[in-house]
Amino acid sequence: MKSQNQNILTSFPKIFNAQFHLLNLLLFFLVFASGLTLGIILSFSLKNFSFKLNITQFSVSSSSSSSSQSKIETSHLSSSSSSSSSSSSLTSAAPNNNNTVRVGLKEFLRPPSITHDMEDKELLWRASMVAKIREYPFERTPKVAFLFLTRGPVLLAPLWEKFFKGHEGLYSIYVHSNPSFNESEAEPVGSVFYRRRIPSKEVKWGSVNMIEAERRLLANALLDISNQRFVLLSESCIPLYNFSTIYSHLINSTHNFVEVYDLEGPVGRGRYSPRMAPTIQINQWRKGSQWFEMDRDLASEVVSDTTYFPIFQKFCHGNCYADEHYLPTFVYMKFGEKNANKTLTWVDWKFGGPHPTRIVRTDVTVEFLQKLRTGSKCGYNGNSTNVCFLFARKFLPNTLDRLLKLAPQVMHFR
Ligand SMILES: *[C@@H]1O[C@H](CO)[C@@H](O)[C@H](O)[C@H]1NC(C)=O
Ligand SMILES: *[C@@H]1O[C@H](CO)[C@@H](O)[C@H](O)[C@H]1NC(C)=O
Ligand SMILES: *[C@@H]1O[C@H](CO)[C@@H](O)[C@H](O)[C@H]1NC(C)=O
Ligand SMILES: *[C@@H]1O[C@H](CO)[C@@H](O)[C@H](O)[C@H]1NC(C)=O
Ligand SMILES: *[C@@H]1O[C@H](CO)[C@@H](O)[C@H](O)[C@H]1NC(C)=O
Ligand SMILES: *[C@@H]1O[C@H](CO)[C@@H](O)[C@H](O)[C@H]1NC(C)=O
Repeated sequence: MKSQNQNILTSFPKIFNAQFHLLNLLLFFLVFASGLTLGIILSFSLKNFSFKLNITQFSVSSSSSSSSQSKIETSHLSSSSSSSSSSSSLTSAAPNNNNTVRVGLKEFLRPPSITHDMEDKELLWRASMVAKIREYPFERTPKVAFLFLTRGPVLLAPLWEKFFKGHEGLYSIYVHSNPSFNESEAEPVGSVFYRRRIPSKEVKWGSVNMIEAERRLLANALLDISNQRFVLLSESCIPLYNFSTIYSHLINSTHNFVEVYDLEGPVGRGRYSPRMAPTIQINQWRKGSQWFEMDRDLASEVVSDTTYFPIFQKFCHGNCYADEHYLPTFVYMKFGEKNANKTLTWVDWKFGGPHPTRIVRTDVTVEFLQKLRTGSKCGYNGNSTNVCFLFARKFLPNTLDRLLKLAPQVMHFR
C-alpha cells in the first residue's frame, strides 16, 4: 500500500500542469482515498492472522524490513521463554537449530547439588571466586546461611524447625556431621534439615580438622550467591530471638562477629609456637570462641587463605587448639577493622575449666531466657544496644520441651 502511493507520487510531477492544478490535486486525493480504502479492506480480509502477530508487525512496520524481521523473531523468543517454566527456559531457548544452547545467568549461578563430589581442594578453589563487579545485575534477596557443625544430629532440631517456619527464601542450612553418622538417622522429608548434609570428614574436636570442617561449610555456602551472612552453630545451640529479628540484625550489621582477645598465660599466648614466625608473631597471636558470624567478604577470605591456615596445619597440634586461635588470629591480623571482636553466641564460663556450663532442663525459665536476651549492654553498628547475643549454647536435649513451650512467649516465635 505504501509503495503503491509512492509510485503515484513520483510519477505525478510528469503530468503536472499549472492550469490543471486544482483538477490534478482532486484526482490525487481520489486515488489516495481509494488506495486507503483498498488497504483497509485488505487488512480486514487478513484478520485470520493472530492478533498478536498483527500487533508485532504493526509496531515494527516503520523500521526497515530486515530489522523488523529480526525484531519479530526476538520478541517471539522472549515471549515464549518467559511463558515456559523458569527453570527450563534458560537452557531451552536456543536461538536456532544450530546446536548453540544459550546458558543464561541463572544457569551459571545455580549452586551445585549439596551432595556434590568435589574434593576439598576443588571445593575451596571454586568457592574462592569473587565477582569483581560489586553490584549485582539482578534482584538479589540476601540470605543468612546457618552452618551446623555437629557430631550427630542437630539435637534441638524441633526448635529450629519452628524458628525457620514461614521464612523460606531468607535462609539456607548446611550441616557438617560425622560421616559415620548413619543414613537411617537421616532427617525426614519435610524437615528444614532434610538433605542439607554436606560431604563431611571426621572431626577431632579442637584440632585443625575442625577448621577444615568450618571452611568446608563456608565454601559450600559461598557457592550459593544469595548467601550474604554466615553463622556457625553447634548441635547444642538455640536461637534467642525470632527469625525476623535475627535476620535484620545480621543483614544490617556493618561488622563481623569473630571473638578476638589477647590472653597471657598457658591457655592464651602459651599455645603459640615460635615456629609460626615470621608469618605469625607472638604479639599477633589471638584467642576467641570459634562460633562466628561473618559476611560474604570475610567468608571468601577464610576459604581462600593459603598463607596462615597452612601454618596452623603444620604447627598447631595437641595443646594448641586451632579452633580457638586460627580465626581470631587471622581476623585480627588481616580484617580487624570490620570486626566487632565479640561473638553473638552466649555461653556460660562461670564455673571455669575447659568446658562451659551445660544448660539443663530446670535452668530454662522465662527469667533465664530474658536475661540472655537483654541482660547486658554492647555495641552494634557504632551504637549501644542490649541485644548482645542472638544465639546461646550449650543446651542439653532435655531442655527441648521447655524451650518449645516458652519460645512463643519469650522469643516471639509465631
Ligand atoms: C550457526 O551459528 C553460527 C555462529 O552464530 C553462524 O555463523 C552460522 O551461520 C549458524 N548456522 C546455521 C545453519 O544457522
Ligand atoms: C550404621 O549402621 C550400620 C548398619 O546398620 C551399622 O553396622 C553401623 O555400626 C552404624 N554406624 C553407626 C555409627 O551407628
Ligand atoms: C535495616 O535497617 C533499616 C533502617 O533501620 C531498615 O529500614 C531495614 O528494614 C533493615 N533491613 C532489614 C533486612 O531488616
Ligand atoms: C576490634 O579490634 C580491632 C583491632 O584488632 C579494631 O580495629 C576494631 O575497631 C575493633 N572493633 C570494634 C567494634 O571496636
Ligand atoms: C542509635 O540509637 C539511637 C536510639 O536507639 C537512635 O536514635 C540513633 O539513630 C542510633 N544511631 C545510629 C547511628 O544508628
Ligand atoms: C519477632 O520478635 C520481635 C521482638 O523481638 C517482635 O517485635 C516481632 O513482632 C516478632 N516478629 C514476628 C514475625 O513474629
